[in-house]
Amino acid sequence: MIELTKEKPNIDESAFDGAMYHEGVVDTRHGTILYLEDVSVSFDGFRALNQLSLYIDAGELRCLIGPNGAGKTTLMDVITGKTRPDTGSVFFGQTIDLLKMDEAAIAEAGIGRKFQKPSVFEALTVFENLELALKANKSTWSSLLFRLNGEQRDLIGQTLETIGLTALAGKRAGILSHGQKQWLEIGMLLMQEPLVMLVDEPVAGMTHQEVERTAELLLSLQGKRSIVVVEHDMEFIRSIAHKVTVLHEGSVLTEGTMDEVQNDPRVIQVYLGD
Ligand SMILES: Nc1ncnc2c1ncn2[C@@H]1O[C@H](COP(=O)(O)OP(=O)(O)OP(=O)(O)O)[C@@H](O)[C@H]1O
Ligand SMILES: [Mg+2]
Repeated sequence: MIELTKEKPNIDESAFDGAMYHEGVVDTRHGTILYLEDVSVSFDGFRALNQLSLYIDAGELRCLIGPNGAGKTTLMDVITGKTRPDTGSVFFGQTIDLLKMDEAAIAEAGIGRKFQKPSVFEALTVFENLELALKANKSTWSSLLFRLNGEQRDLIGQTLETIGLTALAGKRAGILSHGQKQWLEIGMLLMQEPLVMLVDEPVAGMTHQEVERTAELLLSLQGKRSIVVVEHDMEFIRSIAHKVTVLHEGSVLTEGTMDEVQNDPRVIQVYLGD
């Protein structure tokens, strides 16, 4: 069992099967924190996800690869409630049925997402961006005037260390490099203390050095959180991967270590075509 460090999320009670759910706790007794079974999604008759099944363990760092259009982003859309599947089931722990929750409730329950494009507030400082992410109600700009307590200051301080931006805490986010903005956004995600983090193409557009730093950052987070990373940069994937899942035409083609999947003739076929 992993304890949520926040208050009980505001979730429709009917989302829970029986009495397995305890206040503020996600049931991971079977080792699985997130699972999808037989999930299909169609857009105008086109199957973006095709009877996809995927199991993510508590604390694992899973890499998700696959050619353009394989369904990787659609998979994240389904987990976060942005897209509703036509069929299948999606569970957080053993008991929380994500298909019965809306996007806000899923985020509050502990599933956070980072989109490809950084969306930091450029006019605010690095510190203020993290402070803003801490606030439950992000739409309330007046909450910036609110005094942080010591614990919250500590959390921001720790997060600044984790993302390597302590020295830039007082600088406006607008002056950060593309890579630093990506790290700040990962930091903003961390302020919500998610149990599961979904990260879509984090190193796109980064310099080689920034890619290496991002690998270190994600590796430092594994264990504490479960992370699903989608990326096309194979060198990056190799540097962080334990288990890699290859998606193709909306289904899992294969799973294994980086060496296993890279030497799989079906994977080579899918990437190189004929
Ligand atoms: N809202 C939508 N309406 C129609 N088709 C969509 C929609 N979203 C995704 N698709 C289609 O579903 C398929 C899967 O798209 P998805 O974005 O999940 O792929 P991906 O694996 O993330 O690709 P990439 O690596 O290029 O980001 C694509 O053929 C895409 O055109
Ligand atoms: Mg995508």
